[in-house]
Amino acid sequence: MKKLVFISASPRKNGNCDSIVEFAKKQYENKESVEVDYVNIRDLKNVKNCIGCDSCKKTKKCIHNDDIVEVLNKIYEADSIAFISPIYFNYPPATIKMLVDRLYVFFDPSKGFEVSKDKVKKMLVAFSFGAGPAEEYDKVAHTTAFNFMVIGVNEHKTIMLGNQNDKKAFSEKVANDSELAGKMKSLFDWLAE
Ligand SMILES: Cc1cc2nc3c(=O)[nH]c(=O)nc-3n(C[C@H](O)[C@H](O)[C@H](O)COP(=O)(O)O)c2cc1C
Repeated sequence: MKKLVFISASPRKNGNCDSIVEFAKKQYENKESVEVDYVNIRDLKNVKNCIGCDSCKKTKKCIHNDDIVEVLNKIYEADSIAFISPIYFNYPPATIKMLVDRLYVFFDPSKGFEVSKDKVKKMLVAFSFGAGPAEEYDKVAHTTAFNFMVIGVNEHKTIMLGNQNDKKAFSEKVANDSELAGKMKSLFDWLAE
């Protein structure tokens, strides 16, 4: 059984990121070999930022006991992560930076940025955005996956979905573009392999 976790980062309901997740849900719904947990960052009520107190370096535990702790545990347990995010001013939204900074609990300063061998995993980074530039966001996607090495990501893929200012852009495109639909399917299959 493969354990997948979807981290969806759009503050906007029923927009493109939600449609990407809906597309994935349909693909996985009858697959018995896959267990998928869907987390939406906008549903978290209690989110605190890393304050750099370093107490996790002694206790291996964060001093915050908020909703991020459970999300990090889910990511830790997963075999694969899908990270679906809009671009806000050239980066994923601020709530995602709060989550990423909290990866510090898994960071070992004596090792630096290297893949944590505890539980290795794959990651897909999918960005939805407007005009771009897509190539810059692809770099941001690689950096995002690089940060997740500390929680075991050793392999990643990215997909850049531009011209998606309209809420319905992705759902309309994917319904009419078999190449895009095939590409999305193969990425979701790859996560479940
Ligand atoms: C505050 C804000 C900032 C944005 N900044 C960018 C940007 O820097 N580059 C870009 O191409 N699109 C930008 N966009 C457009 C969104 O990335 C785009 O509409 C995306 O598809 C939204 O995803 P959603 O439909 O899941 O909410 C921005 C949108 C908002 C609301």
